[in-house]
Amino acid sequence: MPWYHHTSIYQIYPRSFYDSNGDGIGDIQGIIQKLDYIKSIGYESIWCSPFFKSPQQDFGYDVSDYCDIAPEYGTLADAQQLIDETHRRGMKIVFDMVMNHTSVEHPWFKKDAAKQNDADYYIWRDKPNNWKSMTGGSGWQYSPERKQYYWASFLPFQPDLNYRNPEVKKAMLDNVRFWLRRGVDGFRLDIFNVIYKDSLLRDNPFSWKAIPDEKNPNGFFQQFKYTINQPESMAFAKELRNVCNEFGDRILLGEVSGNRKIIRKFSGEEKNDGLGLVFNFEMLRFKFKAKYFDELVRNIETDFPEPFMPVYVFSNHDRRRSIKRLKDDTQKAKLLHLFQLTVRGVPCMYYGEEIGMTDARIPFKKGLDPIAQKMKKYPRFIFDLAGETPNRDELRTPMQWNDSANAGFSSAGKTWLPVNKDFISVNVDAEQKNTGSLLNYIQHILKIRNSNEAFTKGSLELIPQKELPGNVLGYKRKYGPSEFTVLLNLSTKDKAVTLNAKTIQVPAISGVILSSNGKIQ
Ligand code: GLC
Ligand code: CA
Repeated sequence: MPWYHHTSIYQIYPRSFYDSNGDGIGDIQGIIQKLDYIKSIGYESIWCSPFFKSPQQDFGYDVSDYCDIAPEYGTLADAQQLIDETHRRGMKIVFDMVMNHTSVEHPWFKKDAAKQNDADYYIWRDKPNNWKSMTGGSGWQYSPERKQYYWASFLPFQPDLNYRNPEVKKAMLDNVRFWLRRGVDGFRLDIFNVIYKDSLLRDNPFSWKAIPDEKNPNGFFQQFKYTINQPESMAFAKELRNVCNEFGDRILLGEVSGNRKIIRKFSGEEKNDGLGLVFNFEMLRFKFKAKYFDELVRNIETDFPEPFMPVYVFSNHDRRRSIKRLKDDTQKAKLLHLFQLTVRGVPCMYYGEEIGMTDARIPFKKGLDPIAQKMKKYPRFIFDLAGETPNRDELRTPMQWNDSANAGFSSAGKTWLPVNKDFISVNVDAEQKNTGSLLNYIQHILKIRNSNEAFTKGSLELIPQKELPGNVLGYKRKYGPSEFTVLLNLSTKDKAVTLNAKTIQVPAISGVILSSNGKIQ
């Protein structure tokens, strides 16, 4: 089994993690200073959202130079130091590659707009077809300079590259090699499943679907038949895998959307010869019910059986924080992460999730996030009803380290985003001192996970719901002779579970891990 199938991932949003030089913006040296903290929780890998050179219109997801670092985050030497310092601690480091699009500031785009490239680096057309972007509205943007429209899958300042031009593919694979050569353990791949668009640019068919979701990206009354999940993108996944193989065992973790069977294809067809890992986003909108998790695991085990490995993710830099969906209930959050860390899959945790950081409320109008700006014409209650926030600033507030000014994130007078007000009680320092905290709980479960291969490499067998009391989830993890049973009581009542003629008491909203010698948690 490759290392990245049994690792655990901690996601860092560099701008918000730790500010080492007091300018109000998190930076690479800041990450380096906090590596020991991440290791002490028990995470084996870190993934950093992009810190490449960028005008920061989408805070790094609009790259203008893949082989350089944005000055507010540091230098190439800092990035190298981060790679080396992570490795020195026996951990792995994953960078974030935005291959689908660049910034409009990228020299490639400027040259294309001036028609100075032999073959187009981007996708141009005299007249738009009916394609909608992933964020709504036409994805075709007019360039007054070139007097043509370019295609942008996400936002207007993020033009999509034209991978049908071999020069583009080669140049981007060279960028990938640039970092692999410097020792990066692999990449998280931004919106990988839109990399190729239909070569004939055929119109997308109509759909009744208004809002895209995790299982079905169609929306805005359009079926995204010709703009996402093209077979060429799946073939490209294999090509990228081969490039990584030149450097040994490297992780490729795809951000892809679609139903489970489609996203599985990006991981690999029969063998695990594609990206090897894709996010399973469907649980971002989990329901806190045993039946929900039972069905989720059953479906995922069916569609991602060995040698595939699912990735369990409950929060990230785009979506509402998991504890917010639990109405900030720490006890429930403990149970959610007990599940995430003991189920068969790679757990991916978003910075601050381990201390129960929640979403701040930041009015749209003040939103720095370009999505907030795009959506501010709609009333807030629509998004609240849908359980989402279109202002991603709310979940990107600075990491809460302690109860001093700026939550110990920065010594600046003003931080790039305001610190969430709850930092006085929700912070690393306070939780390290409190034995009953979420942080200490997660650390404890990670210790169990890291020292028992049954959790990282073992098989999973669900205990049928009919053998368990209502709102209790149960599964077994086995690896060789070692076997564990995990029971999670999601109800507000204590439950008695009888397994093999033995009865175990599981208190309300809590979980137990049983080994053959008895209860270990
Ligand atoms: C992905 C990223 C998101 C970004 C977008 C455009 O969805 O996760 O943060 O805005 O792609 O790159
Ligand atoms: Ca800084």
